[in-house]
Formats: sequence, C-alpha cells, structure tokens
Amino acid sequence: MKRISSSFLPPIALDSRARTPMYQQLYEWFRRAILQGQLRPGQRVPSTRNLAAELKVSRIPVSSAYEQLQAEGYFETFVGAGTCVARTIPANAAKPEGGESRAVARPAAKRAAKRTAPRKISRRAIAMRMPPQSWLDNMGAFRVSLPALEQFPVGVWSKLVNRHSRRQPRQLMAYGHAMGYLPFREAIAEYLGTVRAVRCDASQILVTTGSQLGLQLSAQVLLDADDPVWIEEPGYHGARHALMTAGAKLIPVPVDQEGLNVAEGIRRAPKARAVYITPSHQYPLGWTMSATRRMMLLNWATRSGAWIIEDDYDSEYRFGGRPIASLQGLDTDARVIYIGTFNKVVFPSLRLGYVVIPKDLVPAFSTARDAADVFSSTLYQAVMTDFIREGHFARHIRRTRALYAQRRAALVEAIRKHLGEQLEVVGAEAGMHLAALLRSGVNDVTVAQKAAQLGIAAQPLSSCCSKPPSRGGLILGYGGADARQLEDGVRKLTSCI
Ligand SMILES: Cc1ncc(COP(=O)(O)O)c(C=O)c1O
Repeated sequence: MKRISSSFLPPIALDSRARTPMYQQLYEWFRRAILQGQLRPGQRVPSTRNLAAELKVSRIPVSSAYEQLQAEGYFETFVGAGTCVARTIPANAAKPEGGESRAVARPAAKRAAKRTAPRKISRRAIAMRMPPQSWLDNMGAFRVSLPALEQFPVGVWSKLVNRHSRRQPRQLMAYGHAMGYLPFREAIAEYLGTVRAVRCDASQILVTTGSQLGLQLSAQVLLDADDPVWIEEPGYHGARHALMTAGAKLIPVPVDQEGLNVAEGIRRAPKARAVYITPSHQYPLGWTMSATRRMMLLNWATRSGAWIIEDDYDSEYRFGGRPIASLQGLDTDARVIYIGTFNKVVFPSLRLGYVVIPKDLVPAFSTARDAADVFSSTLYQAVMTDFIREGHFARHIRRTRALYAQRRAALVEAIRKHLGEQLEVVGAEAGMHLAALLRSGVNDVTVAQKAAQLGIAAQPLSSCCSKPPSRGGLILGYGGADARQLEDGVRKLTSCI
C-alpha cells in the first residue's frame, strides 16, 4: 500500500473541564471535520501517539476515538501506512439536504447563502470596483504586458536558480533588508545609470515586487487623504488604484502627441501634491513626452513642491530612433521618484521591480516597505543579480528588442491590410503593445467583448479613462504573439468591429 503523507489538521479545541469525555470530544471533532469537508477522503491523519503528544493528553482517549471512527467507517487503517479518512466517503458529504449532514452544516455558510445586500466595506474599495473585464480572460493574441515567454533563456535561468539554491548560504535564507539585497541594488543602479541616464547610487534603490508595489509605496509615503494628484487621461489603471488606496483625489490631465498636457494640469490643479506619468512611452497611447513638456513639468514641480512619480515600465523597447533618457536624469531638485520593473522584460511571475528614491526619502520608503510585506525573496534577487552581471539580461533585451520590432511591424501591416479603414495606429514605435483608435461612434467595450468571445484579448481604450473618450480604441499587445497569431487575431477582429 502506498504511504500517504500526513497533512495538516485544522486546530482541535478540547475542553478538559467539559462533561463530555475527552474521547467523545475528539470523535465528534473528526466526524464534523469529515462531514464538512475540512478533512478529505484519503487524507492521512496523525498517529494516535503523535496526536496525543500534540494535544498533551493521554493516548487512551485518542485511541478510543480512532477505534470508534474506524468502526463507523469514517477512518480506515493500513498496515504500515497509518490511518486515513475513508476513501469511500463522498467528497460532498455535507450537502445541506442530507439528513445528518444538515445538522452539522456550518452556520456561517448558511448565513452567507441567505445574504443578499452587500456588506459594508471602505469607500475607497467601492470606488475601485471595476466592471467585469472579459478581455483579460484570454492569453491569446493581443494580451497586454505578456512578453515572448518562449524566447526566455530557461536553461541559463535554471542553472542560476540551481546555483543559488544548491549552496544557499544562510544569509540568503534569513530575513533580508527592507530595501533589498545589496549586490542586486548595486547591479540595478549601474544598469539604470548606463542605460536610462538615471542619477543614483545603490543606497537609493528599493527593491519591490514590481511597479505596482512601487506605486503603492509612493502613494503611501508621499500623499495624505484628499491630496490632489494629476494622473494621465487616458492612463494606467494600476496607478489609479494605487493612488486611490492612499485616498488621493485624482485629477485627470489629458495627453496628446507631446505627452501630458502640463499647462492644462496647472490650470486644473496648480497645487497638486504629485503627478503620475509614463514619459518614455505613455500608457496606453504610446507617445513620448517632448523635451519642452519635460522641462515645464520639472519647473512646475520645483516651484510648487510637488512630487513626480515616473513609471518607466517598458523603456527597454524602443525601435524607431534612439532611446530617450529618463526624466529623473534631468531633475535637479530631487523631485522624481523613478519606478521600473523586471516583470515585463524577464517574465511577469518573477515579481521584481525597483524604485529610485531621492536620498532624503529613503528612510520613509524603507519603513513603508517593511510595513507592507517586509522584503522580496532574496533567492530571486541573487539570481537576477547574476543574470544581469553575467550579461544574460542585456542579451535577452537585445534579442527581444529585435523580435518585438518585427512583431510590431507585422501587427501594423496586418491592421493596414485588414482594418485600414477602421483602426488608426497611434504612438511611438516602442514597447510591447500599441494603441489603435476606432472610428468615432464605435463602442470599444462592445468590440472588446466580442473579441473576448473569439479568444482575443483586445483591451478597450475606455477602460483606461475616467470618462468615456471622444474616440474609443483598442490596446493591442504584440510581445507574446508571433506574426501568424497576430495576423490571425486581426482577421478575427474584423468581424468584431
Ligand atoms: C503602465 C504600466 N506600469 C507598470 C506595469 C507593470 O507592473 P508590474 O511590474 O507590477 O507587473 C504595467 C504592466 O502592465 C504597466 O502597463
């Protein structure tokens, strides 16, 4: 008989002063746990010796309870394999209509079933509620933020993971620093200085689980409830949510070919505490912020004492023209909080990103990180350090940059061929997605819903807006789909528009 491994039990509470004998309390606890599905058929239970030791009772009541449970068919015993919940017990033993199981059905579950009115949650959480987004169900063509996972050097990565997990020094397994693993922060500072003209040293790098945590921490550290904050319109819903959790008052500021319209922002809220922007590759429209607007923004922030939260989420990928330096590199007043991520370039489930923090804010961010979730897994930070230091990261970026340029070109060509009259591609040649505007009057949510039914993940532009845009559009990811899938996706889209 195969040995079944013993698993965890829910907590058992015994009352030594109760009139019900100990063995019966135990018997009833197990019976209830089995009927309510807390213990599954076939699940191994502890030996009488171990359970008695754990509960600090004599072995006699435990043995008596086990004998009765076995006699009634709740438990079965195998020589050499221990005792387990009888495999013949149906998994749904606690169905409410069953005679004896009704007696043991959980009252909380019953109350939940009867409840109709929603229960009270915070106003912030209610404001963040979104309608169902069926386009997120699909992983096929156009899924935004999905990289070319098949191109990832899995062999190299596994070797590095192996290297660090095989001889993991205790330092990697113990608690780490809230700011992150120092060698990793040094590698990030060097990379950002060289590639993005970010001015920083390792002491300013805070390792996060990705841009989202960077946004969340920035909102917590920089803002008080009801502080006005400019946010790009259309803009990134993740940023909107992060700012809302801090209770910020969002001021949508329109975006055009030159990026955020700074003059309009000043007109709408001259005393805003902060601004969230994606200057390298505006999300979702894809424009690059002009030098004039960058200077205007920095001047306004310096004059008014506002913070600039720069989200540089996919700046590694620029195809036409030279890379654009970060806004942080132009800042002479330490007003910019620079946020980046490895989750797009490497793979989304890596969950590693970073924030570059002005020096005087480091203690506040470090404390907020500690309060949020202490620190990121040191093992993956160590692996990523080697991945960068040994040149694999740069190689992967070079390879995927060429690939995404081809995929973008293939998508633009397919749109021109099949949907030239219906979709207008906008934005710079950069990133892993593009935005395409529909003709006025076409509802982008309806198009996205129809596309989702065909297995396509086209995201409507209006999902990035605080009020319906004058023209709807679609955000189409091309990083995770090859030319054939993209062409196929565009053909399917023609029937949805
Ligand atoms: C504008 C923007 N920022 C950041 C991110 C990445 O966030 P994370 O690193 O938390 O996965 C995305 C991903 O879609 C994005 O579109």
